[in-house]
Amino acid sequence: MNELDALVESARAGFAQAATPADLENAKAVYLGKSGRITELMKGMGSLSVDEKKTRGAAINQAKQAIEGALHARRQALADAELEAQLKAEALDVSLPGRQRGQGGLHPVSLTLERIESIFGSMGFDVAEGPEIESDWFNFTALNTPADHPARSMHDTFYVEGGSADAPNLLRTHTSPVQVRHALQHVEQHRALSDTGQAMPEIRVIAPGRTYRVDSDATHSPMFHQCEGLWIGENVSFKDLKFVFTNFCRAFFERDDLVLRFRPSFFPFTEPSAEIDIQFQSGSLAGRWLEVAGSGQVHPNVVRNMGLDPERYIGFAFGMGLDRFTMLRYGVNDLRLFFDGDIRFLTQFR
Ligand code: PHE
Repeated sequence: MNELDALVESARAGFAQAATPADLENAKAVYLGKSGRITELMKGMGSLSVDEKKTRGAAINQAKQAIEGALHARRQALADAELEAQLKAEALDVSLPGRQRGQGGLHPVSLTLERIESIFGSMGFDVAEGPEIESDWFNFTALNTPADHPARSMHDTFYVEGGSADAPNLLRTHTSPVQVRHALQHVEQHRALSDTGQAMPEIRVIAPGRTYRVDSDATHSPMFHQCEGLWIGENVSFKDLKFVFTNFCRAFFERDDLVLRFRPSFFPFTEPSAEIDIQFQSGSLAGRWLEVAGSGQVHPNVVRNMGLDPERYIGFAFGMGLDRFTMLRYGVNDLRLFFDGDIRFLTQFR
């Protein structure tokens, strides 16, 4: 190997050793710098003859080009490596499964409740709530259902510890007791008016919530949801009940042609009483009468238990099953689906 080839080799080795661009610039200076090896060789040609200068000059130039080539290659390699390292450091592993945040949603019965509250809200109804463990008095007695009344057997209910023998506590069998609680509160709040004989503001309220009965099959569950309504004033009649409930049902199901039927029935707390049936005019349920609520004009004894004079105040009440309304609206045929907590069912209402 001649002296120039050896120089090219040592330049290549020097460049290869340079681990950073700065190292490489230092190595470059050794060979290609102002006082580097190539410059030195050029200077050393002074004493040569013209012909020798030509050959020698060409050979040195070749070596210089080879060194420059090696320098560029190394520069490129360092730049590539740097880029690669950067890409690696910033890499996203797209093969990892994404981290999902589960999206929640409201239970279909809650959706129904929101809907009912907003429709009745638009008709001026407040929303009242009451305890699920209720006293015998609010659940039955105040609602004109005395201890020996046969209607109590319609609600074969869950009694719980805590009450006394003649006033046991129980899981409420309907949300009607909330009406009495709410009315008593309302009367108390406006006592100043009644003391001076002025008319009290009307009571217009719905009472949604959980209720309990000893019942369990595809359309009955021991725990279910009700929404009751009450409108009491000086001049509230059965025709107002018909108007309110018809408008409510049409709004709820978004069917203007929905037909309602008020079928005579019995409840201890209303007189007269009616079951409310609805009939769709189109769709899979068309033509069938579907029972959706109980209703009636509030019994004078109940009005009295609300702290109001039944000679002056009159009104109506109704009670419906939230679960039933939800089933009808979404076409669900088994009530138990609402309480299984199966996410495959529930996500369909998101
Ligand atoms: N409370 C009754 C029930 O649960 C429904 C109802 C409410 C009926 C109000 C008439 C008036 O069956």
